[in-house]
Amino acid sequence: MRFPFFRPAPAVAPPTAADGEVLLETAGLTKSYAGADGELPVLSGIDLTVRAGEIVALLGRSGSGKSTLLRCLAGLLPPSSGTVRYRGTPLTGANPGSALVFQTFALLPWLTVRQNVELGLEARGVPPRERARSADQAIDLIGLAGFENAYPKELSGGMRQRVGFARALVVEPDVLMMDEPFSALDVLTAENLRGELMELWDSGQFPTRAVVLVTHNIEEAVLMADRVVVLGSRPYGTIRETVDVTLERPRDRDCAEFDELVDRVYRIMTGRPKDTRAAVRPDADRTDPDHADPDHADPDRADPDRAERRTLANTPLPTTSVDGLSGLAEMIAHRDGRCDLADLADQLGLDIDDLLPQVDALDLLGFAEIHGDDLLLTEDGTAFARADVQDSRALFAGAALDAPLVRLIVNSLGGEAGATVRAGFLRDLLAHHYTSEQVDRQLETATDWGRYAGLFGYDAARQEYRADEA
Ligand SMILES: Nc1ncnc2c1ncn2[C@@H]1O[C@H](COP(=O)(O)OP(=O)(O)O)[C@@H](O)[C@H]1O
Ligand SMILES: [Mg+2]
Repeated sequence: MRFPFFRPAPAVAPPTAADGEVLLETAGLTKSYAGADGELPVLSGIDLTVRAGEIVALLGRSGSGKSTLLRCLAGLLPPSSGTVRYRGTPLTGANPGSALVFQTFALLPWLTVRQNVELGLEARGVPPRERARSADQAIDLIGLAGFENAYPKELSGGMRQRVGFARALVVEPDVLMMDEPFSALDVLTAENLRGELMELWDSGQFPTRAVVLVTHNIEEAVLMADRVVVLGSRPYGTIRETVDVTLERPRDRDCAEFDELVDRVYRIMTGRPKDTRAAVRPDADRTDPDHADPDHADPDRADPDRAERRTLANTPLPTTSVDGLSGLAEMIAHRDGRCDLADLADQLGLDIDDLLPQVDALDLLGFAEIHGDDLLLTEDGTAFARADVQDSRALFAGAALDAPLVRLIVNSLGGEAGATVRAGFLRDLLAHHYTSEQVDRQLETATDWGRYAGLFGYDAARQEYRADEA
């Protein structure tokens, strides 16, 4: 059933949702922001098509350019090069066929629910009577009936986000765009709202023809999307791979196919070879305990030049404190040095991607290796996890020198006790490759790691790194 919502006269009569008509198309899209050191590329070579009838997830880690891409699709940001077309016409401003739902609800506190929902219609010049009717239908559809006259501050987070959805849906956009719409909600509320939206979508009641969902949550992408577009972030956002999800709807998280897809997307997202073990041993099975055999290690690890090929540009420090990465190492040690990441995340009530920075850090330090879906502590990693504080610091110091930024700081200090290096010097070097936010995170992490390792200290007042007296 379609709702008689207001819709600006379309150029052509609207065909049915499932005809696969191309609604949105980007070709060779790149986007850079101005940085301290000239243009900083955030997106590169993005070719993306969104068709009627589909839900497309843009999946990537924080900083991979998802929100930037969504804003380009919505016509809120111009691409630096390349084009975005809506129904074949290049955008020159806001996309007339899109409406956005944000992570934070962006409601006007002095307006009631109904008035907030009507805002989008008001902007499009719809007369008041029609506005009220359409708003009430959207409010009803999204489960807000009874709350029409409430003010945002009276509502729970979940209810506020419903207002966000109603406000976007009331204009019946061709493409509903959502930027991490569930990530500010508690787990249960998010799950509930996702389920309701998917029911509406599956039953054809959603007054929109396609959905673009931005998320960093792998399971959410696999649960909701027909296609998962995985964005890589090193050194800047490109499409790593697109994964079709053909699982029947409504989808069941507790089935093997779902797990397999999540694992596959996870491997793409982490940039790890999709099926290392299968290549080594075609009969390999994820439950086979023999995989601890070092002969079957990730081929990358066997490469003696691997550490050499690491540069400041291609190997950012994963954003995790030493406490965080030690915590993960200890948990794996308690599980006999090996664990399935998805299971571990489950046990901890986390998403897999919450653990990615720690996993990357252990990998970078040579403390752990990825075998298929399992994370295995190496000998060094096991020693690190079991060591007392003093030994653990020494082990960590040796390993941290594999990280280009840590090595750069140590080398800049030149090994002389009391030598100093200004943070500004490092900041300038990093600005060639990273945005200022990323530079801050890189330096914070390096400071934490270096202090723990006893490799150097940092004087925040002087903004200087200092060689440790020892
Ligand atoms: N307005 C801006 N100016 C400069 N850099 C920006 C701006 N917006 C985002 N960035 C940078 O671009 C990168 C991608 O950001 P974003 O698109 O928000 O990624 P995501 O949504 O995947 O987390 C980040 O490194 C971020 O710091
Ligand atoms: Mg974002």
